[in-house]
Amino acid sequence: MTTSDYNFSTFSKNSFYAELNSRLIDMADVASDLRIVDLACGAGGVTRLILERINRTTNTVVIALDHSQIALKTAMDELKDISNGAVKYVQSGVENISESIKDSVDTVVFCNAIHYLPDKDIVLSEISKSLSKNGKFAFNTSFYEGGQHEDSLSFYSKWMFKAFRILRKEYGLKPEKSLKVESRKQLTPQDYSDLLIRHGLKIEIQKIDTVQVPMEGWLDICAFSDFIEGTMPGIPLDTASEVLQEGVRQTYKELNVTHVPRNWLDIVARKI
Ligand SMILES: C[S@@+](CC[C@H](N)C(=O)[O-])C[C@H]1O[C@@H](n2cnc3c(N)ncnc32)[C@H](O)[C@@H]1O
Repeated sequence: MTTSDYNFSTFSKNSFYAELNSRLIDMADVASDLRIVDLACGAGGVTRLILERINRTTNTVVIALDHSQIALKTAMDELKDISNGAVKYVQSGVENISESIKDSVDTVVFCNAIHYLPDKDIVLSEISKSLSKNGKFAFNTSFYEGGQHEDSLSFYSKWMFKAFRILRKEYGLKPEKSLKVESRKQLTPQDYSDLLIRHGLKIEIQKIDTVQVPMEGWLDICAFSDFIEGTMPGIPLDTASEVLQEGVRQTYKELNVTHVPRNWLDIVARKI
């Protein structure tokens, strides 16, 4: 398999994942919006949820933006049945949104990607610039400080222990710590709240959504290159993916569980 085969598409089709994103898009209430941005659209799963909810007019446009050409190509293919001319694809870093999308927009949706950004102030300033007055900003993330569900802690430690052991014993390999993606500081919900206020946004909804993740969800995230490279830097993708998946299977069996809980932080804010 090549790197492009390790894209986000398979994971994004998990029903628990589509459902948690749906809950956020419902909270953002996009039905009557004319211009909506799906920031870091990935394989287009969230773009689809937006398209399913908007009342389309000839002026309605959903801008699907991502810096990855592979992601945009996947999104284009995935959305062929529903886009019907309403989607504009933009290849850009989220750091340049006001440059890439000139006219202001009613809503910016940013699912499962804000934690990737090393400087969130830059991005929030750009998002705020792009929003019209009263425009909405909706985002979610499961990578925030204090967000690990108590009942999942033994799952994570057992999973990683087993995966690294298989990697060492069966492949004689160890991840290269020096290649580790510079670890991004995770923000607390309060940090996110302060960040939004600094950029002229008022929080309307802030929620923690606890989601039960089945084994297939973890197996599929082990087939996504960003996750694999962050967890096992320097290890060939196919080997790392295989040992991470085997670690998940063994851990579910040992703990005798069908699901492991994970928390998502959901926020909807409005530009004032
Ligand atoms: C985990 S996926 C989320 C995709 C989609 N929003 C969802 O929730 O299904 C993260 C996406 O963020 C994109 N991404 C990460 N950093 C980015 C940046 N600085 N600018 C634009 N896209 C970025 C990646 O290319 C990837 O497609």
